[in-house]
Amino acid sequence: MGKILAGKTSDIPQGKMVKVESEGKAILVANVDGNYFAMDDICTHKGANLSGGTLEDSTVTCPWHGSTWDCKTGKLVTFATQLRDLASYKVLVESDSVFVET
Ligand code: FES
Repeated sequence: MGKILAGKTSDIPQGKMVKVESEGKAILVANVDGNYFAMDDICTHKGANLSGGTLEDSTVTCPWHGSTWDCKTGKLVTFATQLRDLASYKVLVESDSVFVET
């Protein structure tokens, strides 16, 4: 298990999400009402980067075909077919830095 720096809190303002990379894995970090959440960034449908989609409350919408995901849990919210859920990760805020535990 590792701990990677996602950025400063000011890099991830409320309602925004960023992509961070760790050991070849892409992870999305989102700020929902001042709380940070992390899950895999790659949509399990056809592989879009979810961080390129939109964030509304805790719901991330895939930019390619519109699946929706809860960034608090990594679970699929809606799509036409069942998709494999995404891994979610613990986020730590230390001082003004945001870390993801992988
Ligand atoms: S790649 Fe995300 S819904 Fe198709």
